[in-house]
Amino acid sequence: MDGRDTLIIAIDGPAASGKSTVAKRVAAALGIVFVNSGAMYRAFTWWVLRNGADPADTPAVLDLLARTDFVCGEEGGVGTVAVGGIPMTRAELAAPEVNAGVSAIAAILEVRERLVAEQRRYASERGVVMEGRDIGSVVFPGTPHKFYIDASPEVREARRRAEGIADSIASRDKIDSSRKASPLVVPEDALVVDSSELGIDEVVATVLEAIQAKGTPRPG
Ligand code: CDP
Repeated sequence: MDGRDTLIIAIDGPAASGKSTVAKRVAAALGIVFVNSGAMYRAFTWWVLRNGADPADTPAVLDLLARTDFVCGEEGGVGTVAVGGIPMTRAELAAPEVNAGVSAIAAILEVRERLVAEQRRYASERGVVMEGRDIGSVVFPGTPHKFYIDASPEVREARRRAEGIADSIASRDKIDSSRKASPLVVPEDALVVDSSELGIDEVVATVLEAIQAKGTPRPG
């Protein structure tokens, strides 16, 4: 599935750029499922920590990966993920120790290959708005609907602080942008929207207009 038959909207961008909020609203407007691919990397990071492994210990992480099941589902139009049979909650996914370890885990090629396969399988069964770091560049390069939601570092730090979450977004951005495997990039044919000074309604409207302008084939 490459986004030509089923509606696949790819939304990428750095941490706390507002892409989750935008992606959720766009998915609701189109009546398709919102999937945060970061939740999968976070879920596996939580599982690694829960099993007492160090995210920096790649052999231990890979050993665990080979023995771990991921189940991606849907609840109320939002993608869900269970790891090792445990459904993940928002609190677990946003835990400070997960924030601190996730970029190291997400930099491992084998982890990415496994989760990208899950993401493609998921989208082969339904239309999705999927957000992440490599959705337009690597996961669904064939979709015509690619967006990159950006915001200044100051605005992004302030947004995360306002959520009351301890999160080293500058260090995650550095790892995410400089890693060898699928670094965060602006996909060539993506529409870049800077949300620093735009309201959420304006960003959502811009994205929806661009999707409508290209046409929206429906599944089936
Ligand atoms: O919400 P926020 O933008 O802060 O992060 P997220 O989307 O939950 O992603 C958490 C981390 O997972 C990122 O910092 C990346 O290291 C990794 N990630 C990735 O490598 N590729 C994706 N498609 C999504 C997330």
